[in-house]
Amino acid sequence: MKQKVTKAIFPVAGLGTRFLPATKAVPKEILTLVDRPLIQYAIDEARAAGIKEFIFVTARGKSALEDYFDHAPELEAKLRRDGKEELLEALKATNMESGAIAYIRQHKAMGLGHAVGCARRLIGREPFAVILPDDVIAAEKPCLQQMVEAHEETGGCMVAAMEVPPEAASSYGVLDVAEDMGSLVTVRGMVEKPPAGQAPSNLAVIGRYILTPRVLVNLQRIRPAAGGEIQLTDAIAMEVQQGRPVYGYRFRGERFDCGSKAGFLQATVAFGLAREDLRHEFAAYLQSLTAMRRAAQ
Ligand code: UTP
Repeated sequence: MKQKVTKAIFPVAGLGTRFLPATKAVPKEILTLVDRPLIQYAIDEARAAGIKEFIFVTARGKSALEDYFDHAPELEAKLRRDGKEELLEALKATNMESGAIAYIRQHKAMGLGHAVGCARRLIGREPFAVILPDDVIAAEKPCLQQMVEAHEETGGCMVAAMEVPPEAASSYGVLDVAEDMGSLVTVRGMVEKPPAGQAPSNLAVIGRYILTPRVLVNLQRIRPAAGGEIQLTDAIAMEVQQGRPVYGYRFRGERFDCGSKAGFLQATVAFGLAREDLRHEFAAYLQSLTAMRRAAQ
């Protein structure tokens, strides 16, 4: 019988150096896309996929994240008094049921694999999801929900995959594809950040995973690479080496790399234009900006 995915790990212990100086005091996951922090998009996506337990791997300086999910009784009382129902609704999405959320500390930033491994004692025998909140995905059906549905058929490990241009492949984990079945591919290997020209395919892994608990066992056996980091990709690749199934899933949707400044700006434009309450004014501004640029050339 296929097991349900009800737990998700959110690794949020990275240093976020690409957003310094902002991330000196504000966790990257609290940076705001339109009017919601990145972490809210990740939580909403997880909820839509049926996740019931939310495990955050955090680090020093990330307490704003914990505060974000707390109830705010005074604020709520004031909004209620003022009849601000819409804002109250928006706040509701940030509240977590008691016991549904857990925080684990990663004491040293030793990479994504290490961060996921820190949560091993909270994962039982069922498959679990991993969501990287800085990969924001705009999709009609949320990406993790697409993956959970596909995973109900396949079992095994599954990673979200996206076609990238060859020159970009060395920034990602890249899949070595055994069989391409359209939205699903079977994987015979995975390479983390392959040197230019040596990527086994143009299918890059992005920040959504459904993993078996065996990956956590593999993580225990991996020694840090040269940069002192333990790669999640290596622990998933070990599953393939041991003859267990790993799938890449070509999700339907657009992914924004909100861990980079350019990606964050692109996401801001896309999500701003997608919002009915902002679209009109924002589109008019962008048009006037483009017209001004053209005139100046
Ligand atoms: P990144 O590669 O984006 O690293 O991590 P980073 O530290 O967050 O950001 P930069 O590169 O310094 O700007 C990918 C994901 O893995 C988590 C991050 O929080 C992010 O969600 N991570 C990374 C950890 O939880 N722990 C780590 O040691 C490294």
